Amino acid sequence: MNFVRDTSLRSQLLCWLLLPLGGIWILTACGAYFLAEHFANNTFDRELLNSADSVIARLRSDPVKIWVDMPPAAQAILRHNNRDKIYYQVLKPDGTRISGDAVLPKPVRHFDSPVPSFRYAKLNGQDVRIVRVKANLEGHEDQMVLVQVAMTLNALHEMTQQILLSILVPQIFMICLGALCVSYGIKRGLIPLSKLEKALSARSQFDLTPVESSETPSEMKPVVSAINVLLDKLRNDLDQQQRFVANAAHQFRTPLAGLKTYIYAAKRLPGDPRMTEMLEKIESGVDRLTHLANKLLTLAKAEPQIGNANHQAVDLNFVASEMTADFVSEALPKGMELTFISSEKPALVFGELTDLAELTSNLIENAVIYTQSGGNVTVRVSNGDAVRLMVQDNGPGIPAEEREKVFERFYRVLGTAAPGSGLGLPIVKEIATAHKATVEISDCPGGKGTTVTVTFPCAPKGNFNGKSKTNTDS
Ligand SMILES: Nc1ncnc2c1ncn2[C@@H]1O[C@H](COP(=O)(O)OP(=O)(O)OP(=O)(O)O)[C@@H](O)[C@H]1O
Ligand SMILES: [Mg+2]
Repeated sequence: MNFVRDTSLRSQLLCWLLLPLGGIWILTACGAYFLAEHFANNTFDRELLNSADSVIARLRSDPVKIWVDMPPAAQAILRHNNRDKIYYQVLKPDGTRISGDAVLPKPVRHFDSPVPSFRYAKLNGQDVRIVRVKANLEGHEDQMVLVQVAMTLNALHEMTQQILLSILVPQIFMICLGALCVSYGIKRGLIPLSKLEKALSARSQFDLTPVESSETPSEMKPVVSAINVLLDKLRNDLDQQQRFVANAAHQFRTPLAGLKTYIYAAKRLPGDPRMTEMLEKIESGVDRLTHLANKLLTLAKAEPQIGNANHQAVDLNFVASEMTADFVSEALPKGMELTFISSEKPALVFGELTDLAELTSNLIENAVIYTQSGGNVTVRVSNGDAVRLMVQDNGPGIPAEEREKVFERFYRVLGTAAPGSGLGLPIVKEIATAHKATVEISDCPGGKGTTVTVTFPCAPKGNFNGKSKTNTDS
């Protein structure tokens, strides 16, 4: 995963803080390794030098020869070491061995360094460290010998490891603690950002009020102001659009009403029957335009307003029974049975009375228009786990694949013969959304016809103003 390209601010901060922290740790680990090696070497070398000094202390000489007074007990003390093997050797300046182990390498050059020298070598296939010390014999200052002591490196390695671990283990612990603190700090630091994100995503698409910025950290204030400027522009645009649609629809209606009056009057004048036919065509065109203008106007009004200042608790039984009664005059000529079934207890929803009436009227209008003569339309209000308005008919139904599309503006199912503008269900949807309700289209029980169900959240208790009333079957 590429953290640097990751667009998450948290990952970026984590990356830019933890990567340098990791780098610093690697550097200190290398430093710790060299320090550990240095201190371990120093200690080891001192031990080697002590051994060499013990050999020198046992050097004896007389005018004829030089020897080392190293009885087995003294050798045991010198070579006593749990982990490592120790070798020693005493040489004349010409390289002749006086005493000690033959396996030690002879110095290639004439040894005349006044200070002890240390080096690494291989002995019997094992790595060893060797110290070489020049020593003058007591009472024979003119005679010089070379003492070599070698030791395998097990103790050295162990010591290096121990020093390294004693530095690195607490360091790893500190680094992990540091990473946790950094991660927690970033999480805390980003809380205002996630609060803003939650506040914005919890909004409805119609809530264009400015984002609250009093608690926003100063670094985020420019972003919040930019969002607020954008919201402001959107609010103005939306207002303008709504005003435009409402004005246009209103402007339509006045001349259309005038035209309708003239047509009505002209049809009553005696004259050419073709003229009457033409006037009837014009009249139906005017009717369609009037219908369209009315729906556009309703839609413009239905577009959710910011806030719900005019909302009140409304009994859906009252609205549905009134609207059902309004359509009786259209259902009767078609020989239809139009029924209203109310819920047993009041079905209260929190909303705008006129909007809820508009929603119900659009659904009943569709059912009455699109159901064949002699059909049945049932308007039902129920109040169980939620408040529901159901409009059922036994008409042609809406094909399953069209049930989403019919909520798009101006969309009409192909082959629909009855006149209409394709705005009724979009209006229903808008009003339902403004009331936090859902709309669902399904078949009727038995698979024929259409059922449109609008499910409302129940009105909060104590908001019912008592103006509404509950009706029973019409
Ligand atoms: N109860 C129904 N039965 C069968 N088809 C329906 C029913 N309700 C809606 N439809 C189909 O869905 C389409 C969209 O309905 P909608 O109410 O949005 O517009 P409309 O009725 O055509 O016009 P408007 O309501 O604007 O006068 C309709 O044209 C029709 O094809
Ligand atoms: Mg309609």
